This record gives sequence, structure tokens and C-alpha cells, in this order.
Amino acid sequence: MKILGIVTRTHDSGLALLKDGVPTIVLEEERFNREKHTRKFPFRSLKAAFDDQGLGVGDIDVITTPWEMKSLRRNLFWGAAEGLPASLNMIPPSARPHISTMIVAVPMGLRWGLMWHFGMHTKLLKIVQVRHHDAHAAIFFVSPFEEAAVLVTDGHGDETAQSAYIGSGNRLQRLWQSEASDSLGFLYMAVTAYLGFKPFTEGTVMALAGTGGPSYANKFRELVRLEPEGRFSINRDLISYNTHGVKKPFKEWFSEAFGPPRQPNEPISDRHRDLAFALQSTIEAAVVHMARALSKRHPSRNLCLTGGVALNCGFSPAAPCSSGPSRPSLPGHESRSPASAQAPSGPCSAPRR
Ligand SMILES: [Fe+2]
Repeated sequence: MKILGIVTRTHDSGLALLKDGVPTIVLEEERFNREKHTRKFPFRSLKAAFDDQGLGVGDIDVITTPWEMKSLRRNLFWGAAEGLPASLNMIPPSARPHISTMIVAVPMGLRWGLMWHFGMHTKLLKIVQVRHHDAHAAIFFVSPFEEAAVLVTDGHGDETAQSAYIGSGNRLQRLWQSEASDSLGFLYMAVTAYLGFKPFTEGTVMALAGTGGPSYANKFRELVRLEPEGRFSINRDLISYNTHGVKKPFKEWFSEAFGPPRQPNEPISDRHRDLAFALQSTIEAAVVHMARALSKRHPSRNLCLTGGVALNCGFSPAAPCSSGPSRPSLPGHESRSPASAQAPSGPCSAPRR
């Protein structure tokens, strides 16, 4: 059986091809068009995966994408409605560089792109929509483990930003999920913008954290409330990135506590380094909090961490792991594959057993 996982109109367009449960090709369009985090339709990836291999779309048994539109649209709609009128500030794309408006039409964009590539008279299969975090969690099936706890943490999925699963054999069971707005990924993105760095340069802030000190660490933790059973919530009295995006990610409390935002051309000071440190230590504490609770609920030596936040090197297998499980698996790190390669491959990942 051949399964095509494909994604477009969100950052990091690309595709993955599975043959009888084994990933045979995983391609990111940015490697072909040289445009980092491209949202463009992955025509060049299709050419490499199909045309150059003598394959056609008729050779595919299932087409799938890692977004479930009903949940995504419902979440975006209610998120905007609850925040009115302030959420109108999110209309300009510059306020939300990580999220394209066109994300709500991913399946239609895929159908048009596939027909454009393979011919307008091509009969296409229905595109199977997989919940975003289910797609991330499916990385368990290509992990070295027969059973594991699985923690997904990223910017946003179609209905959540954090979720936990247990994986066993050829099954994944979701245990819980957070509110979509309680997002560690968005918090990282917001501080990255506050520190004057471009979108998608969270890795720079992560590196900067290594040069900072703990002067702001305790104060910063007021942003993330750790709650029982591994849950946490973002303190909405202190943030505004859910209504204003990166243009004004935090309320006044933030600049009073940590100083004004850094301008892109401004020299980096100890204050900026300490803010990066505070962010990094808070994110690490939240992830360890979730992982500990998960290991209590599902005792296991194995932990799969996945999603964009899990690419943070603070969660590297080489880092000391005090969360319980002694064998973390972070596919993005292990394979050195790009972060988003998980996304198109996730929904078509099949148990190898
Ligand atoms: Fe994701």
C-alpha cells in the first residue's frame, strides 16, 4: 500500500511517501525552491517523488494531510470571536507570520495543486484529514519503542497546542489535550519577536538563553501556571499575542518587568540574554512538569517528544532527563531531519509491526 502525506499553505510545505508502512521519501519544498519555511505548493517535491521515480498519482492508495479542517475552523472562529474587538488586530498577516489565512482551505489547495501537477482530468482520491496532533504523535510508530508515553507540544494544532498519548504496539490513545491558546510554541514565538528577531528564529533565542542568567527566571514563571496532573495554563492577564499577534505580544506588565522590546538593530544586552534564559527555563519546567505527570499516569521508560517545541535542544536526548522516563525519543533530533518533516510524514505513518 502506498500512502502520500502532503501539506501546503502552512509553513514548511512538503510531502512524505510510505510504502507498506515504511517511509520511502520525505521531502521539504524549501530544499528545492530555496525559500525557508515556504508555504508554496510542493510541485518540485512532487516531481522528485513521482515524475522522477516513474510514479503517478494513480499508484497511490491513500492521500492524507495533517490538518482536520472542521476542528481548525471552529477553533480559529471561536478564538477570534471571544477576543473581539481586540482580535481584529490579527487580520494583517504581519501580526501572525506563522499562520496563513489560507490554512483554512488546505484540502482545496491540495486538490487544485495535485490536479495542476498530474493533469486536470486526473481522478483524485478523497484527501483524508488527520488531526494535527494525531499526526505528530504518529511518530511513535517509527520510534524504536514497542510502548511509550508520547507528548506533543507545538505552536498550534487544529484544536490544541499540547497533548499527551500513550502508544502501544500499533495503537495510540490520546489522554488529554490543552486549550489551543495555552501554547508554549506561541509563547516562544512572542518572546522571539519581543527580542527583535525575525519569525522562525526561535533557535537564535534558544542559543541566546545559553549566555543568560537567572535574574528574570522567577518573575517570568508568572506567565505559565503549572497545574495538577501535568496541566498548565498561560496567564492571559499578561499576554496579548492571542489578540494582537507579534505586533504587541504582551501587556504592559511585561515591559515593566523585563524592559522595553528590543529593536532589530539594537545591540544585545545582558537584559536580553536574561530574558531568553527566563523563557527557556520556563519552557523546560513546563515540559518536565507535563512529562512527569505523564510518566506517573503511564509508567514507562520511554518517552516520545514531538511537535515544534520538542525540537528545542533543552529536550535533547543528550540533556539530563529528570522527568522519569530514561529513554526519550525526539525524532527530529535523532534523524537530524527538519522539524516539519514530521508533519507530512505523521499522518501516513503506519505501525511497522
Ligand atoms: Fe505542529
